[in-house]
Amino acid sequence: MKTLLISASPRANGNSDTLLAEIARGIESKSVETEIVYLRDYAIHPCIGCEQCRRDKTCTRFYDGMHLLYPKIEACQGLVTASPAYNYNITAYMKAFIDRLYPYFEFTNPRPGPYSCRLASTYRALLTVGVCEQNEASEMGYTIPAMSEALKVMGYDLIDELAITRHFALGSVKKDTKALSRAYKAGEQLATALAAKAG
Ligand SMILES: Cc1cc2nc3c(=O)[nH]c(=O)nc-3n(C[C@H](O)[C@H](O)[C@H](O)COP(=O)(O)O)c2cc1C
Repeated sequence: MKTLLISASPRANGNSDTLLAEIARGIESKSVETEIVYLRDYAIHPCIGCEQCRRDKTCTRFYDGMHLLYPKIEACQGLVTASPAYNYNITAYMKAFIDRLYPYFEFTNPRPGPYSCRLASTYRALLTVGVCEQNEASEMGYTIPAMSEALKVMGYDLIDELAITRHFALGSVKKDTKALSRAYKAGEQLATALAAKAG
């Protein structure tokens, strides 16, 4: 069993990266392997809605960094996504990543109609993490639902959502023992959910 953790922060060693590292520690404490990827290190073109993937079952319009991530997504039963709030929403990196998961959907014609997702044939568990500068979680707007709602319809079982507020400076969350403990425990919880399904 393995979990893929995805950071959508443009800032290396920022708050999203720090929270993901702590979640990974929690996951690994339960003997589930982890891999952290930073979307800023991958060139990912936004989806252009060409619909070629309906026929080809993968993206045949852009041969970019997403093709390095597709095998990891398929191989990992656990997924953790983290994004800072950028203007009440996920960053452009996370938006491009989620939209480029579109090839996994199977739609029936005529549209709109019933649809399914090929990723759902395996049990998959999800944690979503939003981090923002302001005091209230409401001030991160759509950041968490933009990840949770999109990934739930792809078949992911949403284990928890972490809304971490009051962090602006690079890596300031490193001193927030409450947030770090919450992150570690959420990691443990994700690993426990995966182990329960595997057992
Ligand atoms: C372009 C931009 C937009 C932002 N929008 C918001 C926002 O809507 N709400 C908020 O509370 N913080 C906002 N912030 C602050 C970041 O969410 C905050 O600094 C966060 O800790 C950055 O996470 P990182 O260290 O993982 O990059 C914004 C920052 C930037 C650069």
